[in-house]
Amino acid sequence: MTGVKKLIGPFRQVIPMTGLPLKGAIPDTELAVISEAGILVVEDKIDSIGKFSELLTDFKGTGTEIIRLEGDHVCLPGLVDAHTHICFGGSRANDYALRNSGKTYLEIAKAGGGIWDTVTQTRKATKDKLAKHTVKLAKRHFKNGTTTLEVKSGYGLSVDEELKMLYAIKEANEILPIDLIPTCLAAHMLPKDYPGSVDDYLTEIGTVLFPKLREEGLAHRIDAFIEESAFSAKQIAPYFKRAKDMGFDVTVHADQFSTGGSEVAIQFDALSADHLEASTQKEIELLAKSKVIATALPGASLGLGCNFAPARKILDAGGALAIASDHNPGSAPMGDLLTQATILGAFEKLSNTEVLAGITFRASAALNLSDRGQLAKGYLADLAVFHTNNYSEILYNQGNLKPCMVWKNGELIFD
Ligand code: NIG
Ligand code: FE
Repeated sequence: MTGVKKLIGPFRQVIPMTGLPLKGAIPDTELAVISEAGILVVEDKIDSIGKFSELLTDFKGTGTEIIRLEGDHVCLPGLVDAHTHICFGGSRANDYALRNSGKTYLEIAKAGGGIWDTVTQTRKATKDKLAKHTVKLAKRHFKNGTTTLEVKSGYGLSVDEELKMLYAIKEANEILPIDLIPTCLAAHMLPKDYPGSVDDYLTEIGTVLFPKLREEGLAHRIDAFIEESAFSAKQIAPYFKRAKDMGFDVTVHADQFSTGGSEVAIQFDALSADHLEASTQKEIELLAKSKVIATALPGASLGLGCNFAPARKILDAGGALAIASDHNPGSAPMGDLLTQATILGAFEKLSNTEVLAGITFRASAALNLSDRGQLAKGYLADLAVFHTNNYSEILYNQGNLKPCMVWKNGELIFD
């Protein structure tokens, strides 16, 4: 593929998502729109973006492949979903029905449903079966425009079962044309069959699993669920300290039902604090002052029938807001990032630019990836293309306008 050049266009609009701040509110007047544009791709990266007619004159007859689009097309950066749990066995349709009949998420968990139910079903599945299921769900995501998808372990909850999940995620990543970014969530809850204490469990994961993750490059990110039903801030502190000392990035399931998690995220320089449905003005202000990306998970609010994270207040306080699907079998079974982001936008009064920032460059910052989430020279040629003449139609259709083409690393992966 050395030197392969492609000129794609004309696009009615390319939305490069460049020149925008990582933190704080962004009015739509700040959004750059390049009209009648072409994108010149060299190998897997963007070389230039400009007027299609001018690029055509410059590159026609130079061995550049011209990919001419007929009709109306708008191009966004490939979407980045920075929080999912799509590697799992079984289903939790029963939990969903129980919740809608009046039981709470925590009551169901205490009665043997919840995360532990999925752990039981995931442990029964082989690595290959898990990989296959992950591929199936990830395909849905990339057909909806997502080209980078974080995937957590966390339904194995022992050294061997967590490894099985992370091998399955690795296998799925090798099969898929998009990038899966693995995260170790062994600290999802204390496994019910663990013979020792919480501290024993976290120490075992830290001393036995972490070195294996490092050796085999299975994950560079460590997540923990800080919640009354899972782990306390005090229990997680030594676990995160070990993770940071070993060079892992950390991220937190924070403030979902009760507060405490986002403060731990700040204390340990986490890349992101995710959920935040229970965050109060205090957490909002602390997050806004910090470098931690605040990640809203509207799919969990929709799945649980509860309030959204205070996205508007986070932006107005000066925070960095990413939006992710949290696709998982329990609290967020829908797994449709664009739909959920537009719904969050409608309820929280976010500008189109704030919504798009949350699922592009602000989400890639939450994954510590600086080569994507924007369309500019040197960035990966990851493109989500929609049949329309105006980018605001994409959000206006609330997820129902699907991409007509998706490109990853300069290759067409879906049309
Ligand atoms: O992000 N909050 C904890 N973890 C997941 C839910 C996992 C599950 O219910 O299986 C979440 O919502
Ligand atoms: Fe989650």
